[in-house]
Amino acid sequence: MKPASDKLLLRALAGETLPRPPVWLMRQAGRYLPEYRAVRAEADGFLDLCFTPDLAVEVTLQPIRRYGFDASILFSDILVVPHALGQKVWFEEGIGPRLEAIEKPADLAGLSRDGLHEALAPVYETVRRLRQDLPQEVTLIGFAGAPWTVASYMLEGGSSKDFAAGKKWAYGAAEDFQRLIDLLVEATGDYLIAQIDAGVEVVQIFDSWAGIWPEAALRRWCLEPAKALTARLKKERPDVPVILFPRGAGLLYRDFALESGAAGLGLDTTLPLGWAARELQSKVAVQGNLDPIMLVAGGEQLDRAVDHILTELGQGPFIFNLGHGIVPETPLENVSRMMDRIHGWDAAARRAG
Ligand code: CP3
Repeated sequence: MKPASDKLLLRALAGETLPRPPVWLMRQAGRYLPEYRAVRAEADGFLDLCFTPDLAVEVTLQPIRRYGFDASILFSDILVVPHALGQKVWFEEGIGPRLEAIEKPADLAGLSRDGLHEALAPVYETVRRLRQDLPQEVTLIGFAGAPWTVASYMLEGGSSKDFAAGKKWAYGAAEDFQRLIDLLVEATGDYLIAQIDAGVEVVQIFDSWAGIWPEAALRRWCLEPAKALTARLKKERPDVPVILFPRGAGLLYRDFALESGAAGLGLDTTLPLGWAARELQSKVAVQGNLDPIMLVAGGEQLDRAVDHILTELGQGPFIFNLGHGIVPETPLENVSRMMDRIHGWDAAARRAG
């Protein structure tokens, strides 16, 4: 069968097993790059960077220039959606994201999808420019946070250790919590469709905090919204594959593979590879899952960890990535070392074939 595209990422997501997997890294544009830190210092703030197309295009392209990744992920943040719904969002140096927390159900009335596309228009402009500027073999990935992960920041007012605010709503006021999740399913769908119309070729939905729930809650607050989003995207934009990243979902990754309708699943660092190959890879393409801290450690143990992933997952549809975002202290040469190893795999596979 002739593939619909010659781009490696699209071929893997269409179910092809490739001699050398496509590779990109979550958070590949970021503080581990000196050229990112330079642009970041010029911007008025982190959100300003996300909403200034000239700067956002530049930082999106930086990791492609330096390392030749097969895919480029739009530079933005998952928290632009609460901002566009009318919630106050800001980033504090040394702390991270802060939001004016939604404390009670009545506060939901202050959120509205009416101004969504207007607020996010600069992101769509960034996407249009990237499609022009990216090398033709590089795939452009758009993204959004999953409803639960975004809701957790909206209710906690920022990052959290125990997710108590979100859990209290979900357990004690499930109907109100469902209203927030439903609003986010709608808004996230609108946002991703607009990204697709501006030019992204794949979308990834980050459920970074899926792993904090008991089983029934994980199904209700993570799997069900993922199904709703994927179903809408499949119906309205059927040519664009969806990657879900339900970090920490454990055994429930299997249910995401069977039920979510996604073309690909992002595996977190803890997921056993043999299990993933057996239980997931016959249904979906898998992506992952090098420990970001192994990439900091480097050396021969990094080579072995890369080889192990390539051996275990390379026999089916597979995209090389980390198991979570790259961290700021990552040495630049370790990323080169990892890339050389993956590209060398191609040569070794060719020699063997
Ligand atoms: O290169 C890329 O991957 C694209 C850009 C991207 C960013 N954030 C840029 C960013 C993407 C895909 C995200 C997703 C994101 N944002 C997630 C889901 C993925 C994950 O890592 O779990 C989450 C939970 C957020 C929310 C968020 N944004 C937090 C918690 C923080 C602070 C933590 C930190 O790393 O500083 C951010 C800030 C942020 N988003 C930075 C970048 C490059 C660092 C900010 C800076 O430059 O000062």
